[in-house]
Formats: sequence, structure tokens, C-alpha cells
Amino acid sequence: MEKWSSSRVFIIATIGSAVGLGNIWRFSAIAGLNGGGAYLLPFILAVIFLAFPLMVVEMAVGRHLEKDVVSSFRSLRERYAWVGWFIFLVMVMITGVYLVITGWTLAFLVSSTGAMDLSFPDLTAGYLPVLFFLVTLAITSLIVSKGVRSGIERMSNALVPLTFVILAILLVYSVQTTGFMQGLEYLFTPDFSKMSEAGLWTAAFGQAFFSLSVGYGLIITYSSYMGKDVNITRSAIAVCIADVSVAIIAGTIIFAVVFTNGLEPTVGAELAFVTLPAAFDGMLLGELLAFLFFALLFTAALTSSVSMMEVNVASVMNNLSLDRVRSSLLVGGLVTVVGMAAALSYSALDLRIMGERVLDILDHAFGTVGILLAALLTALMFSWYVDRQFLEDEISCGCRRFVLPLVKYIVPVVLATVLLFTLLPI
Ligand code: ALA
Repeated sequence: MEKWSSSRVFIIATIGSAVGLGNIWRFSAIAGLNGGGAYLLPFILAVIFLAFPLMVVEMAVGRHLEKDVVSSFRSLRERYAWVGWFIFLVMVMITGVYLVITGWTLAFLVSSTGAMDLSFPDLTAGYLPVLFFLVTLAITSLIVSKGVRSGIERMSNALVPLTFVILAILLVYSVQTTGFMQGLEYLFTPDFSKMSEAGLWTAAFGQAFFSLSVGYGLIITYSSYMGKDVNITRSAIAVCIADVSVAIIAGTIIFAVVFTNGLEPTVGAELAFVTLPAAFDGMLLGELLAFLFFALLFTAALTSSVSMMEVNVASVMNNLSLDRVRSSLLVGGLVTVVGMAAALSYSALDLRIMGERVLDILDHAFGTVGILLAALLTALMFSWYVDRQFLEDEISCGCRRFVLPLVKYIVPVVLATVLLFTLLPI
């Protein structure tokens, strides 16, 4: 079985999986909708007490079993393989949606070079979303088809540091904008009156799992390629710190631009694709700024989409006994079906089901509900049905006294509650 070439590479690749659209586009959009600072505290609490412990357990499970997600659940009990296939299904759906949005970032990146002049309504007025989805799908499939070392590792080594360099440049730029202090204040001043809203907590908790790539097979799959020399707890801490830092820094940059231009931070998903491109236009070095911002979004999104596809490709390879190239083609084919429907819903065809755009339906059903359910099942199965001794051996530090009870008792209860609030119109 292929392994990462070093523990450093494992951490870089896992940071690449975690840092994605979730940190840059979704975090700021949700923070904006939920009163900025009011949202940060529940998010950080969720990272420390829920997502981090489950990440440690997933890393331990992945390294110990050295299996894809379907085989991992099967190794608990033959009859639990369906949980793995359920996560497979969720991942096919999310990868389709994710690659459509990655395609938008690529379209804006191309547009920022001056090759075309694009606004969001221009993009969705024709069929460019389909074209850019297919291009990002092809790039992602190609990287995954090359394997762990020649594909995923090489890409991560190149793109993850680049993501951080671009982020640093944008942060330095944002410091001199007139809206910088207001943006910081918005992001860091908690509005305690908002904290009684259940929606704020469920949004923050769901985001913590999505952003850290925890609970839906990514960490188990990447950890199955991890060597015995890797310190699991330290790696999980590094990934969490990197992920949260990127979200906060990206939020700082985005809100600085928003307030410098006197715009509204509360527009939600439109923030990155409608509000910001318009704002960049009138700013100092606006074209360069737009180029760097969309390059940041694209590189971050690509390293995440590769990890999503790897969950499915590894499952197909091991469970259907196909080689990596055939598995990548098969998964690519499944993702094409989902992604085409999602891409067409933000195109001239305006594909909708019962008045709702297909992309939005899939994003809610699988990106929110599906992920929460996958994380709930992962936490339950790998704390209640697993040999506790191997978890203790893998997590060779005192923190297991904190991590294991949290994953066994607290994480499932909180996730079940969040799921209930998400599903019921309370
Ligand atoms: N964790 C990845 C993201 O935040 C999926 O986008």
C-alpha cells in the first residue's frame, strides 16, 4: 500500500484537505449572516471540543486499519459496511457540488487575468459553469489517478505553501485598507444577544466539521497512508490551528474589503462571487487583488476536492477491485452526473426542483445534513464498536483521557441535537 513519504507531507496534505472553500468562502459568508463575532466563539468551541477529538480518533482509526472508508466500517462488523457506502454516496454528491463552485473560482481567476470580463450574472447567464466544472473535474481526477505520492503528495507540496503565501500577501494588503479595523472589530466583537439563537450554534457546529474535513471519511482515508512515526495528536493540533487561522485571516481580509467599500457583510453565499469582485474593481491594485483572491480560492478548493475524490477512489479500488485509473474514471463518471445537474442550476437552463436550484438542494441535503449524519455515525461506530485498546495505543499521549470520552458521549449527543435542529423547522 502506498504511504506518504514523510510525516511532514501527511500534515501538509491534511491541511490541504481541510483548508478549502469552507474556510474562505463559507466561513465568511456564515459569519456575515450570523453577526460576525457572535459566530466565532461557538465555532472555536466546536473545533476544540468536537471536531478536534473526532479528528484524533479518525487519524488513529485510519492508521491502525490502513483501509478506505468502506472497508474501515466493514472491519468493525461486516453488516456496517453500509455506513461506509453511505459516506461514499454523500461524498459523490458533495464532490459534485464542490467542483462546480471550484469551477466558479477558476472562471473568476481566468477573468481576473483580463482574458474575459465576468460578473456572477454573466457567468450564470450561459453555460460557462458547466465548462469550468468539467475542467476542474478533469484536473482533480487526473491528480487522484496518479496516486498518493505522484499525484496527491506532489500537488499538496506545491499548492498548500502557495495558498499560505497568497494569504499572507492579501493580509498585508488588507492592513492598509480603511476598513481593516472595522472588519477586525466585526469579526472579533461578540454580539451576545445573538448567542441565544439556536441557528447560530448549529451553523457554527456544522461549519467546524465541514471546514476541518472531519467526520466524512477524508481524515480516515488520508491517515491510512500515514507512517507509524507520525504523532497523531500533534498532527491534529497542527491541522486545526492551520485551518482556523486560515478561516480567521481570510475573514479579516474579506471584511476589510467589504467595510472599505461600505458594503454589506450579511449577503451570505454571494459574498465572494458578487460582493467582492465588485469591490475589487474600485480598489488600489484591484486587478492584482482579484487575481490573488481567486488564485487563493482555487488552490485551496483544489487540494480539498482532490481529498474528497480520494475517499471515493480508494473505496472503489479496494471494494470493487479496480485499479486506480479505472476507479478514478468510475468515480469521475458518477461525479459528472451530480455536478452537471448542479452546474446547470446556475446556468442559462436554471435547473430547479420544486423552485429550488439543484445545487442549493444538494448542498443542504448532503453538505449540511449528510455530513452531520456521517460524522454522527463515525463518532458512534468508532467509539462504541471499536477495540478501545488500539485507540489508546495509537493516541499515545495523555490527551486520550480528554479525547475518547468526548467522542464517545459528547460528540454524538451534540451532533444528534444539531441534526434535529437542522431538520425540524424549530
Ligand atoms: N474542509 C474542506 C473545506 O473547508 C472541504 O472546504
